[in-house]
Amino acid sequence: MSGEDVDWEKLYQDDFTPWDAKKPDSHLMELVAEKIAQPCRMLELGCGTGTNAVWLAKQGFEVIATDLSETALKLARAKEDSGLCTFIHADFLKEPVPGADFKFIFDLGCFHGIGRKEDRALFARKASECLVDEGLWLSISGSSDGPEFGPPRISACDITAAAEPCFEILSLKATELDEVEKEENDEFSLPPGFRIRAWACLMRKRAKEDFE
Ligand SMILES: C[S@@+](CC[C@H](N)C(=O)[O-])C[C@H]1O[C@@H](n2cnc3c(N)ncnc32)[C@H](O)[C@@H]1O
Repeated sequence: MSGEDVDWEKLYQDDFTPWDAKKPDSHLMELVAEKIAQPCRMLELGCGTGTNAVWLAKQGFEVIATDLSETALKLARAKEDSGLCTFIHADFLKEPVPGADFKFIFDLGCFHGIGRKEDRALFARKASECLVDEGLWLSISGSSDGPEFGPPRISACDITAAAEPCFEILSLKATELDEVEKEENDEFSLPPGFRIRAWACLMRKRAKEDFE
């Protein structure tokens, strides 16, 4: 799956969502368990069917979660406890997100799907504009060090090139995406035990004067 020009709405309509783990992301859970991300007003970008948004809300976060797919958001809103979150339909690259006062941003597989480097830089700049000074962004992306199938893959350099003007990189860890349980007749089959290489990047918004 290339990162460029993915028709996300069509993939959700076709029920082709091999990334949808239906359980909270382990990297996110670790960050919360370590109290690096503490309950606050937060934004999830590309929330898909809302699993992480709902989990975060249940941990006490005030969650605004956005996605450009109406179908994904419909599935998210149908989830138990979805009323704890505010789901917003928006293309993050093109439309504003209400508020610039978030303390934490989470994205799993949204930033990495932005194929053009100019758009990744725009995405990072917009993410920084949504955050308070020193706000955190945890981004989980497929890694270009893995073989060429599965999710979009980006390099460490792609991440830092886009993010560093507005964010300090606090950690950039080579990791693996969580395993997604296969459903019957799943068309997207990975070899048994195969794990998709990934980056977990934790960033802190620079004070404005640092990047202006
Ligand atoms: C690989 S899926 C991951 C979904 C969810 N985070 C998960 O892990 O199940 C990427 C998601 O980002 C959304 N997305 C992609 N580009 C976006 C954009 N520019 N603005 C908002 N959402 C976007 C897609 O609709 C899709 O739901």
